[in-house]
Amino acid sequence: MAPPNVEIYLSSTQCQHPAPYQAFGLTYENFHSLHTAANEAKSRAYCPYSKFRVGAALLISKNSDVEVIAGCNVENAAYPVGTCAERVAFGNAVANGILKPGQQDGGIVKAVAVITDVEVDMEKGTMPASPCGMCRQFIREFCDLNVPIIMFDKNGNYAIMRLEELLPLSFGPENLGVPGPSR
Ligand code: THU
Repeated sequence: MAPPNVEIYLSSTQCQHPAPYQAFGLTYENFHSLHTAANEAKSRAYCPYSKFRVGAALLISKNSDVEVIAGCNVENAAYPVGTCAERVAFGNAVANGILKPGQQDGGIVKAVAVITDVEVDMEKGTMPASPCGMCRQFIREFCDLNVPIIMFDKNGNYAIMRLEELLPLSFGPENLGVPGPSR
């Protein structure tokens, strides 16, 4: 069974007004571009060992523009060397100068999306996959604790939670005297 406090929004009810993601400050365009980018990234996953494809996408605002940066999981024959989609996406944003933690001229993460091939089944209580613990900590480095994390299943059904709900009492850059991202 799904934990009682986690709601699943079915793609079949997505014309609902207001849409659930609007409560997290996201527009229809934001939501759909995140879903599309994460899904496309998932199709590029390199996962010959687990065969578990994951795509991630970040909505990053800078001045009045928004950009979507994606990543997929990249596995390795030496298993622990492989990387999750979320960490690839954040690395991509940093390496491309879109996220500059601690600097004034960097972008601000407005939302994170993750998609897998898991299928929500309300009868069986199957939930969309959520970011692993290591990725939650990685996300914490770059995002405000209120940032929404959208967890899509294969069919566009989703759950949405704030980072702090997924990682309460977290440890971050401020604990080491580093300002971290512009929030
Ligand atoms: N994986 C992700 O990409 N993100 C997560 O948050 C959970 C797990 C990947 C790692 C590995 O390539 C595959 O999923 C199976 O664990």
